[in-house]
Amino acid sequence: LFVVEINIMTSIELTLRSGQVVHFAAQRGQTLMHAIRDAGAGDLMALCGGGCSCATCHVYIDAPAAGDLPSIESQENDLLDCSTYREANSRLSCQVTLNESLQSLRVRIAPEE
Ligand code: FES
Repeated sequence: LFVVEINIMTSIELTLRSGQVVHFAAQRGQTLMHAIRDAGAGDLMALCGGGCSCATCHVYIDAPAAGDLPSIESQENDLLDCSTYREANSRLSCQVTLNESLQSLRVRIAPEE
């Protein structure tokens, strides 16, 4: 049973704005935004609740293989373009669904705009 549970979880290392690093396991099938909020990371405002319209769920993601992440759609791309802090690995966490190829992720919450 233990092995089965590991296979449906993505392990996440999350760096908060303070620099504090927290580790948690998130169930697959949900978005990274929901996983981070469920983990109690108050830094992530996610004001629009996942509607891809606020960009307050901006994070930087290091995945073992970037191709494992869901691709960026144009609305997400446009919103990220409005951010002062966009980097090559910027994503809106509400648009990243944790899938079975994502065994582990390193995530850092972007600065507040
Ligand atoms: S929660 Fe608003 S864009 Fe992601």
